[in-house]
Amino acid sequence: METRTAQRLPFSFSVIGQGCWQLGADWGDVTQDAALTILDAAYESGIRFFDTADVYGDGRSEQLIRTYLQGRSHHGVTVATKMGRRANPHTGDQYTLDNFRAWTDRSRENLGVDTLDLVQLHCPPTEVYHRASTYEWLDTLVSEGRIAHYGVSVETCAEALEALSHPGVASIQIIVNAFRQKPLSQVLPVAADAGVAVIARVPLASGLLSGKYTTTTTFADNDHRSFNRDGGAFDVGETFSGVPYEVGVLAAAEFSVAVNAQGIEASPAQRALRWLIDQPGITTVIPGARTPDQARANAAAAGQPALDDATAQRITEIYSQHISEHVHDRW
Ligand SMILES: NC(=O)c1ccc[n+]([C@@H]2O[C@H](COP(=O)([O-])OP(=O)(O)OC[C@H]3O[C@@H](n4cnc5c(N)ncnc54)[C@H](OP(=O)(O)O)[C@@H]3O)[C@@H](O)[C@H]2O)c1
Repeated sequence: METRTAQRLPFSFSVIGQGCWQLGADWGDVTQDAALTILDAAYESGIRFFDTADVYGDGRSEQLIRTYLQGRSHHGVTVATKMGRRANPHTGDQYTLDNFRAWTDRSRENLGVDTLDLVQLHCPPTEVYHRASTYEWLDTLVSEGRIAHYGVSVETCAEALEALSHPGVASIQIIVNAFRQKPLSQVLPVAADAGVAVIARVPLASGLLSGKYTTTTTFADNDHRSFNRDGGAFDVGETFSGVPYEVGVLAAAEFSVAVNAQGIEASPAQRALRWLIDQPGITTVIPGARTPDQARANAAAAGQPALDDATAQRITEIYSQHISEHVHDRW
């Protein structure tokens, strides 16, 4: 598996990582055995970066990662977690040093480590990015040994650019995929110049880019693809990248035709990941595999040939024709 580095971090990232939201909650049921098997398939396929959060299943995702890594000689796995969303209500005034300490202490316990590798603010209210104290307190956590490095997980390009102006920020996690292209020009070049890692989340637009859904596909009641289509539970951009479902199904069908035309033996999901890997400035791409086979297929995308120019051009056209009007100015 190809690895990549960013100047502000001492460790390398496998270019495909494992998104671990699915192992916690909000994507239908995933049993403990299934979750551990997914992590093992990811690891055995060369994935060395796991992305989780303290709220995924209220700590379940972090605890499963601990269970998986404990007692094995799995050297070289970096675990990034997130904090902030435990705040209830989730308001800017909850982002205090005391809460930062409490949140990270809980994640340290869940993950069974003294020092967390990388902690990301979990899409905080926009005002939080603009406060000097936010970054001072994150520096305090580093000096106390609670965390080794920090970054931010953002909703918008504007939030990413604000965070990038602070020298302690080592990583930006942002939604970027064939259906969310604005960060390619707005954020990735700035991050690359600053030596900041870019962690590409929701790379399959919540699975849309696999091309496997139809307008009649249904999702479990406890899957956010059922309950957050209108943004009722959290930012609607996290569900299908904010693309209206029927529009996304149509565009995904065109995406599948476009990538299949190149004649590479690979699924549309793998081509979506390969396209993203090849965008300048991407450090790692973190698909949320929900089965061991998906984890293996996602890892394999890193070894497949790049998209040719004609296919890449067609992907740009599909974005302009169907997707841009729904997402480009919003995030
Ligand atoms: N605010 C934040 O910081 C935030 C928000 C969202 C996500 N994330 C992180 O980003 C990770 C990835 O994003 P995501 O999981 O939301 O979206 P995603 O990776 O775009 O989509 C995940 C879905 O894609 C499908 N899939 C995965 N691999 C596949 C394959 N090889 N072939 C076909 N289908 C495949 C599965 O759908 P089926 O279940 O239908 O098979 C899976 O549930 C999360 O796990 C989490 O770690 C962070």
